[in-house]
Amino acid sequence: RVVAVIMVGGPTKGTRFRPLSLNIPKPLFPLAGQPMVHHPISACKKIPNLAQIYLIGFYEEREFAIYVSSISNELRIPVRYLKEDKPHGSAGGLYNFRDLLMEDSPSHIFLLNCDVCCSFPLPEMLEAHRRYGGMGTILVSKVSAETASEFGELVADPETNELLHYTEKPETFVSDRINCGVYVFTPDIFNAIQGVSTQRKDRANLRRVSSFEALQPVNRSLPTDFVRLDQDILTPLAGKKQLYTYETMDFWEQIKTPGMSLKCSGLYLAQYSSTSPHLLASGDGSKTATISGDVYIHPSAKVHPTAKIGPNVSISANARIGAGARLISCIILDDVEIKENAVVIHAIVGWKSSIGRWSRVQGVGDYNTKLGITILGESVAVEDEVVVINSIVLPNKTLNVSVQEEILL
Ligand code: GDD
Repeated sequence: RVVAVIMVGGPTKGTRFRPLSLNIPKPLFPLAGQPMVHHPISACKKIPNLAQIYLIGFYEEREFAIYVSSISNELRIPVRYLKEDKPHGSAGGLYNFRDLLMEDSPSHIFLLNCDVCCSFPLPEMLEAHRRYGGMGTILVSKVSAETASEFGELVADPETNELLHYTEKPETFVSDRINCGVYVFTPDIFNAIQGVSTQRKDRANLRRVSSFEALQPVNRSLPTDFVRLDQDILTPLAGKKQLYTYETMDFWEQIKTPGMSLKCSGLYLAQYSSTSPHLLASGDGSKTATISGDVYIHPSAKVHPTAKIGPNVSISANARIGAGARLISCIILDDVEIKENAVVIHAIVGWKSSIGRWSRVQGVGDYNTKLGITILGESVAVEDEVVVINSIVLPNKTLNVSVQEEILL
C-alpha cells in the first residue's frame, strides 16, 4: 500500500500571495476552477494501491474541513487534514505524524509540495523508484540557468540517476536541474529525519556543557524538531546511493505569487483538454458566449452570449459577465460582476468585486514581476469608464479615477 502527503504550509508562509491570501489559504485558491491543492490530489488518484491522502499544514483545521470532506467523497479516497501546532519544516512536519502515516503499513510514501504546478507523473516515479532500489526518488526538471538559483539545484549520475550533489538555492550556479518538490520515499525516511533531530539534540546538550557553542553557531536557532527536507536530508544523503532522480519533460512551475497562479491556471486549463475535456467551455450554440482557447466557466456563472472569453480564462461561481465584455488571461473569482463592454486582460478579479461599463482592468502579462498583472482584492468596485493598469488594489476600495503602476492600500 501507498500513502500520499501534501505539504500545505501555513498562514505565515503566504505573504507573497497577498492580497489574495487575505481571504483564503493559498492552497485553496482556485487554478483552472479548482483549488490549487486539488491538482496534486487528483494526480494521487492514479497511484496504484493508494490507501490515504494526508494534507499537513499549520492553517486552522476549519479552513480545510469542508474541502477535505467534499474531495474525499468526490474521489472516493480518504483525504485528511493534519494540523501541526507549529511549523516543523518540510521533513519535520512529516515526522511529526509518522505514527498516523504508518497505520496503513505503507511500503511507499509520496510527499508533494502543494505550491508546484506540473503533470505529477506519480505512477512513473514509483516505477522508477522501485527499479533504483533506494530510499527516495526526487522529481527533477530542467530550468533556465538564470532561474535555477530560486530552487534546489542538483547533479545526478547520467547512467544510474543517483543523486550525487544537492544544494538548496545556491548563490553560484551549480546545475540547471532542479528539485520539483515531489518525492517518493520508503518508510526509512523517518529514520533519516530522526537522525537529524537526534544529532541536533546531542549538539544542543554538548553546547550546554562546554564552550562548543562558539564553534557551532550556525544551527543554534533551529529547534531540534525543525527539519528541512532539502538542506537537512537531501544535501547530506547525496552521493550515498540512497537518493535517485526522475526527470520530467512536461511543464513544471512554482506558485509563490499571484502572477504565477495566473500562469499556472492556464497550464492546468491546457492539461484539461487531454485529461478532463468536459471541464472546458465549448462555446457551441447560439446561446453561449464566443469562446477562444481554454476556458473554464462554473455552471452557476452567467455569461452574456455577446461576451468574448479566452484564452486562459477561468470564471468562478455566481459571476456575471455582461454584454460585449472581453476577457483574456484572467481569473474571475466568486460573485464578481463585470458590466457591459468592460475589458479584463492579464488580471485576477477578487471575490464580490465589480467592474463598470466600458472600464478596462489590465496588466502587461509579465507573470514574474510584481505589477505584471493587475489584481483586485475582495469587494473592489471599479466604476464605469475607469482604466486600471498594472496595479494591485487591496480589498474594499472604490476606484472612480484611472490608475497605472500603483499599489492601492
Ligand atoms: N506542513 C508544513 N509545515 N508545511 C511546510 C512547512 C512546515 O513547517 N514548511 C514548508 N512547508 C511546505 C510549503 O507550504 C511548501 O508546500 C513546501 O513545504 C516547501 O516549502 P519551503 O520549505 O518553504 O521551500 P520552497 O518552496 O522555498 O522550496 C522547496 O520547493 C522547491 C520546489 O517548489 C525546496 O525543496 C526547493 O529545493 C524546491 O526547488
